Amino acid sequence: MMQFAKWTNSSQVSITRDILKRTEQPGVISFAGGVPAPELFPADELAHAYTEVLAAEPQSSLQYTTTEGFHPLREALASLMEERGVHCSADDIALVHGSQQALDLVGRLFLEPGDLVLVEETTYHGAVLAFNPLGVRYRAVPTDDHGLKVEALRDLLQEERPKLIYSMPTFHNPSGVSLSHQRRQSLAALVAEFEVPLIEDDAYAELRYEGKQEPPVKAFDQDGRVIYTSTFSKILAPGLRLGWVVAPREVVAKLNIAQMGASFHVGTLLQRVVHNYLSSGGLPSHIKILRSAYRARRDAMLEALDAHMSEVARWTRPEGGFFIWVQLADGLSTRQLLQAALSEKVAFVPGDPFFAAGGGQDNTLRLSFSTATVESIQEGFARLARAVRVVA
Ligand SMILES: Cc1ncc(COP(=O)(O)O)c(C=O)c1O
Repeated sequence: MMQFAKWTNSSQVSITRDILKRTEQPGVISFAGGVPAPELFPADELAHAYTEVLAAEPQSSLQYTTTEGFHPLREALASLMEERGVHCSADDIALVHGSQQALDLVGRLFLEPGDLVLVEETTYHGAVLAFNPLGVRYRAVPTDDHGLKVEALRDLLQEERPKLIYSMPTFHNPSGVSLSHQRRQSLAALVAEFEVPLIEDDAYAELRYEGKQEPPVKAFDQDGRVIYTSTFSKILAPGLRLGWVVAPREVVAKLNIAQMGASFHVGTLLQRVVHNYLSSGGLPSHIKILRSAYRARRDAMLEALDAHMSEVARWTRPEGGFFIWVQLADGLSTRQLLQAALSEKVAFVPGDPFFAAGGGQDNTLRLSFSTATVESIQEGFARLARAVRVVA
């Protein structure tokens, strides 16, 4: 028998894997995954960038590079952050293999066995996968339709000393909700007052379909407590594996040391290709295309929910991102509904694995509208309505 480390036995890993496997059967309309729509990837533009970079700099783009990475790319990221409302320079930025790696590395910088991490009531499952090997505990900060309740966080901080707070203030995964301007300011002030580092995970930043853009919490971080991460996964393609962290310099320095141990650096060719793509000026128009396609899907799903589910559930109305969070009426079970839904060949993810600190009830679920077309959303909800009639 292999003597694996204890964390490898964590059951949460297999729960989601199992569900996703069952949703990948032929003919199933799946609202379960959370990946971007592949037909929207800017494949031609990226092919062009790869060709140009390899022709112009074949040797340097294929060589090892420094852990800090390509300075012009980090400068371009600093400009992108400026547009999001955060002033920073290339030296405040660490490159990572996607935000998922940021969670792993930042977790390792701060967390030791037994440490407490505060998370929203429901949280991104990948964060739990990143932090679990470190042997940490979780407590949930209460949330409502406007995200994390900052006053409830204050109460918790008066009671306990967490090592980290992990939050998705914009287009939360799985709930879809976003923090108001006021709450963003208060959250930055609170982590400064209690001197707790906050990981702000901004994976869906640019994918807003209505309403006014809000600055990240990082924009209000005068005390250097916010460690911000974002990614090209949802605005270009997740297969690139490129994300970044904006953090105080001492955090960036330690992140780079951790990155050295993990992988030396993010791929040299990839860094140059993404820099080439950004320099071509194609990103803003690509984001417009994404917004319009995803907006249509979100609207179709909200309409389908209104048409088929209003008597048996209530749900969030996200202004962006990929997800809608649904709470079924009392007495209805998500697991039973999933069984009936899979028989009708439509799928979603039950809500309970998203409750990292426990407390999940068997009447919540997450729907993703990112990969389904408007037609498949309509057909999927006709099937879901039949499944509801079976269990209601
Ligand atoms: C909230 C959130 N954070 C981070 C990630 C990881 O993204 P990346 O592909 O940049 O590692 C995801 C991916 O789904 C996500 O939903």
